[in-house]
Amino acid sequence: MAGAPRLGVDYYPEQWPRDRWEVDAGLMADAGLSVVRIAEFAWSRLEPREGAFELDWLDEVIGILSAAGLDVILGTPTAAPPAWLIEQHPEILPVRGDRWVQQFGHRRHYCPNQPAMLAASDRIVRALAQRFGSDERVSAWQIDNELGGRCYCAICQVAFHDWLAERYQSLSVLNEAWGTAFWSQEYSAWSQIPLPDATPVPDPGAFGFRRNAPNPGLALDFRRFSSDSLIEFLKRQVRVLRESCDPRQLITHNLMGFRFPEIDYRELAAEIDVVSWDNYPVLDTTRRWTHPALAADAMHGLKQAPVWVLEQQVGPLGWELVRSPRLGEFRLLSWQAITHGAELLCYFRWRTARFGTEQHWHGVLDANGQVGRKYDELRALAKELESVKGMLEGVGQAADVALLHDYDARFALQAQPTNPSLAYEETVHTHYEALRRLGLGVAVLPLGADLSSYRIVVAPSLYVMDESTAAALAAYVEAGGVLVLAPRTGLKDRCNAVPERPLPAWLDELLGLEVTDFMSVPQEEAVRIEGASGALDGELHGWYEQVELTTATALATYAGGGFAGSPAITERELGDGKAVYVAGAADATTLGRLYRLLCGRAGVTVLDVPSDVELVPLAREGQKLLVLLNHSDEERVVQLGPGDRRVHLGRETDDGGLHIEPLGVAFVEGESAQRGARSAVADASA
Ligand code: GAL
Ligand code: ZN
Repeated sequence: MAGAPRLGVDYYPEQWPRDRWEVDAGLMADAGLSVVRIAEFAWSRLEPREGAFELDWLDEVIGILSAAGLDVILGTPTAAPPAWLIEQHPEILPVRGDRWVQQFGHRRHYCPNQPAMLAASDRIVRALAQRFGSDERVSAWQIDNELGGRCYCAICQVAFHDWLAERYQSLSVLNEAWGTAFWSQEYSAWSQIPLPDATPVPDPGAFGFRRNAPNPGLALDFRRFSSDSLIEFLKRQVRVLRESCDPRQLITHNLMGFRFPEIDYRELAAEIDVVSWDNYPVLDTTRRWTHPALAADAMHGLKQAPVWVLEQQVGPLGWELVRSPRLGEFRLLSWQAITHGAELLCYFRWRTARFGTEQHWHGVLDANGQVGRKYDELRALAKELESVKGMLEGVGQAADVALLHDYDARFALQAQPTNPSLAYEETVHTHYEALRRLGLGVAVLPLGADLSSYRIVVAPSLYVMDESTAAALAAYVEAGGVLVLAPRTGLKDRCNAVPERPLPAWLDELLGLEVTDFMSVPQEEAVRIEGASGALDGELHGWYEQVELTTATALATYAGGGFAGSPAITERELGDGKAVYVAGAADATTLGRLYRLLCGRAGVTVLDVPSDVELVPLAREGQKLLVLLNHSDEERVVQLGPGDRRVHLGRETDDGGLHIEPLGVAFVEGESAQRGARSAVADASA
């Protein structure tokens, strides 16, 4: 982190009268802001008729913002194709999974493969790039807005056939890989291959059958193709921008955190200079602090580099239903995003809309344009960040643990969700929560990332496996790492077929076991496990497996159910490394016990803090810096014990207690940040 993170807002000058622009710019500057993102939905104002560009007003806005000391991030406006374009080319409208054609009147109403849309996108992006590509006042470009959606139009179907032909080269290879002998699905021409129906819908009363259950190979490939289509659409804009823009202007896109399931964000991230994302914590009804934290860590993990939050929640939000953040939560959630790697936060939006779908999505200013509480809070935060910027200089993530995720596994499980206790996002979240509750820093990484610097690697849902991934995991263990795998690992190959191998495929030897049977039961049904003199007692829910050990030993065994007495959590030692298998869907408490034990053995310090206090370990040149975020409505006290340290923002009392106000934040810096907290907050590894 290069000093204080920058703050900004998302501004829609086209939605407000011209004589308001200076007022807004002045208020932004007075609040201590330095960045503004504009124009990402302004297509109809920028090109009111085909090829007739009106960019002078944008130039004027940029001038006003820049004169007030604000740096501009310019959006390409393709998420909102104008009415004239749709009138001329109605084929641009996307066909959704149920074959409904999305109409004009909302946004994202385009197919990323339609030639008319690509031509129109090239044209508007080129016009903007030629006008502003060497403009000193513009520091970055945001491509489109929150790419997403799967299209089922005829053009997409042809493009899918081409995509498949390139991937498989011949139909016989495809028929083999997908196993199309099943239900007479063999193809003798590419044109016969259908688009799979959308996400399976559970059919009440249908005894576990689901509607829309296509060939799993087809279903996985269509998801990959849809993801690739959007990435190709983005790449095309990147190319147009790079033709005319100064390399000083960075190119980014605003992603949607960990929960968004349609695009392989690892592949998308490789195409842009900076990963940006949109952070709306209050949209998550569970209100777990781990929700935005996981999103932030997953976005940071895509490039393992600082990110920008281009939309950070500022107030109550919703299109119909309004959800309010707690008073004061604004600051806490900003600090959370910053300490998880954001070097820029733009608040969505500057002013509450008077018109349009988002009238209930509240901005820094209310719809009446007056400053009030939210404006004051933002200004106070900007001041606070300025005052502690020295402390943030050169600070980065400190993680002993990596958590791996994989879009192929995720896409494959979308097509066949199986037992709800194995749901992809929830499974990753549960492991993340268990780790973070122990005060651990967790790098959330896409499959393929370098694992060598992590003491522990957790990969809870590698449902799709291949030989080389398995070999990389084995190499990590051989080099002394602790690897944790969980049920249904290696059930499928990369074509979503079941490999003809012992389970978990390609990993049975590394784990020293074979999965021989399983029980799939309602999620509420639990089976108890016992182990390591009570330290590993716990529960598995919904899904649990029987394993036969070859070279592994049992860490915990089933205390009931059909597999009573047989191993439930196992460990195989390999040199200094260990490969651990959790044979069922464990809850966060049970996983917490396992991770406590594994950390203790691996010499990784775990800390006991109240469950609503989030501890974020950071580092600066080998020095630790601890951040404590109090997500509760009450003051929390954390005992730090003796040691030299500096405390920022929190209040320290003589007895060594660190008092953190409700929804407050505290920083502990100095040589005792690690040791002091370790000795006092109860070192559970001891
Ligand atoms: C985001 C989107 C914004 C705004 C916000 C509230 O997902 O990028 O443009 O619409 O949601 O709905
Ligand atoms: Zn299409």
